[in-house]
Amino acid sequence: MNNNTQKKEFKWLPIIAILAIMALLTAACGTSKSPAPSGDQKSSAGQTNGAAAKKVIRVGTDAAYPPFEKQGPDGVPVGFDMDIIKAIGEANNWDVQAAHTGWDPLFEAIKTGTKDVGVSAITIKPDRQQLYDFSDPYFDAYQLIMVPENSKVTKADDLKGLRVGVQKGTTGQDLAEKVLGKGSANIKGYADTPSAVEDLYAKRVDAVIADNGVLNDYLKNSNTKGFKVVKDPSVQPEHYGIMVKKGNKQLLDQINKGLKTIKQNGKYDEIFKKYFGNAK
Ligand code: ARG
Repeated sequence: MNNNTQKKEFKWLPIIAILAIMALLTAACGTSKSPAPSGDQKSSAGQTNGAAAKKVIRVGTDAAYPPFEKQGPDGVPVGFDMDIIKAIGEANNWDVQAAHTGWDPLFEAIKTGTKDVGVSAITIKPDRQQLYDFSDPYFDAYQLIMVPENSKVTKADDLKGLRVGVQKGTTGQDLAEKVLGKGSANIKGYADTPSAVEDLYAKRVDAVIADNGVLNDYLKNSNTKGFKVVKDPSVQPEHYGIMVKKGNKQLLDQINKGLKTIKQNGKYDEIFKKYFGNAK
């Protein structure tokens, strides 16, 4: 009986062996096939599993400009700008890797190519356009003047003779220079905007000029009260653009295409609402 069973098993052995070999061959064929197509448009959550790695896009920002960018709990920048570039990245199937660079270093990083893209509430303006390329505008802004609540300042011209804090190399500095003159000792330049606002709170400067979205955010969210913002009637509208190395047309085209996509599919509006509610 026992013997009999064993014989029966032996009879099946060659068949099992053949099946096993066929299985191995099939598996081998599978791996030699061309790599899996790089995930569909909406694969951001799925990450890449192996072979078809997404194109990495290195984003630099000065993550000290909320609500556009600030450092998240893990140091990774978060904010309106980061959501926008991530959504553009999703439309292009990119792996968007954002990091805080600071403001001046960001321009350097784009020039030297250590970052691919600058997203940092950067106003498109002629002197920058000579050195960098910018996407289509993605956000409208203007300068505001932040002063103590009891200040008599109602327009930019009233800043004459006052100490004005600005972030160095921004359009806030441009406006301060227009009023006080280039090189004026009354213009205090800071490496970032929070440092300027801190000095305003501490009364070391009399006013700070910066973008409307940011100063309004300070008014709303800062624990320090007793300040207001003033809009000069003559301030020029500004438009933010996404910055790339001069001549990087391919990347710029993809950014503009992605921007169009997220404006059409409602993603842009969704992000806008998240940060600015129904304003505008
Ligand atoms: N929009 C202004 C400019 O382009 C200020 C931008 C500052 N951005 C920042 N992340 N600190 O000059």
